[in-house]
Amino acid sequence: MRTTQRYSTVAIVLHWLIALALAAEIALGFAMPKDASGFAAFQLHKSIGITILALSLLRLGWRVTHARPAPIERGVTGFLAAAVHVGFYIFMIAMPLTGWALVSTDPSDIPTLLYGVVPLPHLPLGQGVNGLAGEAHELLAWGGLALFALHVVGALRHHFLIRDGLLARMGGGGFVLAMLAAVLLLGLGVFAYEGGFSQRAEHDHATDHASDHATDVHCDGDQQTLADDGHNHVHEDEAEDETADSAEDDQQDEETVAEAEPEVVEPVGPPPSWAIQPGGTLRFAIDNGGTTLKGSFANWSGSIVMDPDAPQSAKISITVDLASASLGDATQDTMLWGGDFLDTSSHAQATWRSSSVRRISGNRYEADGTLSLKGKSRPQRIVFTLNGSGKTRSVSGSATVDRKAFSVGTGSNAANLAPSVNVTFAFDAVS
Ligand code: HEM
Ligand code: HEM
Repeated sequence: MRTTQRYSTVAIVLHWLIALALAAEIALGFAMPKDASGFAAFQLHKSIGITILALSLLRLGWRVTHARPAPIERGVTGFLAAAVHVGFYIFMIAMPLTGWALVSTDPSDIPTLLYGVVPLPHLPLGQGVNGLAGEAHELLAWGGLALFALHVVGALRHHFLIRDGLLARMGGGGFVLAMLAAVLLLGLGVFAYEGGFSQRAEHDHATDHASDHATDVHCDGDQQTLADDGHNHVHEDEAEDETADSAEDDQQDEETVAEAEPEVVEPVGPPPSWAIQPGGTLRFAIDNGGTTLKGSFANWSGSIVMDPDAPQSAKISITVDLASASLGDATQDTMLWGGDFLDTSSHAQATWRSSSVRRISGNRYEADGTLSLKGKSRPQRIVFTLNGSGKTRSVSGSATVDRKAFSVGTGSNAANLAPSVNVTFAFDAVS
């Protein structure tokens, strides 16, 4: 029996959009580096995953409100085909939800900025479900691959063996076969690319450590370096920083260095890590009805991996202990730490992480990133200047922070405060 009934154009477009997105997403999920170097891939994974959730809800909505072609097969195979379709709908919705639950309950509390623009709030779940969400997310991925295999074998069976024209229902025989090829190629391509990226990152990791050893700049108690306070998780999985300082890691480093030695002679090395030297300053100033309130943070730390000549590969993150903020006056400080302003009892730290860094001119740079403060994550630009040359640089810079975007200064005490806070910093860094 041949069939000419088709799915509606909307259903067909959504079917193929979701199939392509899923192919890229599963491949990315499996291949993305599960350490600090995977930060950008993780943000992309989360962005595509939430897009799939939205498209799948749309598709499900369309399916229940619009007629679709009647099933053309009965019996066991007809039941199996219908079961695979139901399984797919469950998969398309449960997969992003478990992923979302996973990041919402991770102890490292990494904010998500979809496509670098839209903040994704955490789901209101306890950390107790984190392990379960992780297991479910991985198990579902394998389930999805099994459904995919059954679905494709079923479709090809109709096309090549039964020859009932079923593929025409999803856009036409040739078109469906072309889309199948596109789905497979996209999945394999992303997997190979991300896998290759992982290996490159591992290589960078090894050479990073090699240069650490060569220049003898490794984290120690006095220097505020990449992971000196353990708050620089970059990836949901308790990812320790690449230069985490422990005897155990050092031992592993030696092994990695030994493995990497032949590679170290490559002319283009990884960007150097810079250790922030003690004595730096992080200050803020804000106009309060004509007078300027000035304060500073005593405790902050940061991680800088940057080649001043190739800033596009830089990764910078800064963590600030909010309770170390002071205006130099005990009464004002109590107010500053309180719920109307920094709310330090609920939000001990603020973090800023770079997403892209570029040179404006000469030794001046501009870095876009995400500031997470008081439970909110927003895009935040920083500009800075590097003075000096070689392995020691003086860094100074500033940022204008829109305090209202972070609900800082909400009560009547803030009535005369200007909307923006001027933040400045200065420190020396050694590579
Ligand atoms: C992971 C990717 C895919 C997912 C999630 C998926 C999901 C689905 C779902 C849920 C349906 C049922 C539509 C409905 O009744 O609402 C369907 C139908 C269909 N799919 Fe896919 N699909 C995927 C990939 C593919 C591929 C690669 C092919 C090509 C071989 C394909 C061919 C078809 C065909 C021909 C139908 C119509 C079946 C019928 O009318 O009984 N799909 N797909
Ligand atoms: C349809 C959508 C999605 C698919 C198909 C998918 C697929 C995958 C796959 C295959 C993995 C690797 C599993 C493993 O190696 O253990 C993975 C890991 C992960 N996914 Fe997703 N994902 C989706 C949506 C999401 C969303 C929306 C989020 C968060 C908002 C997310 C967060 C994660 C995280 C955090 C991991 C890493 C788990 C680990 O640390 O190993 N995923 N995903």
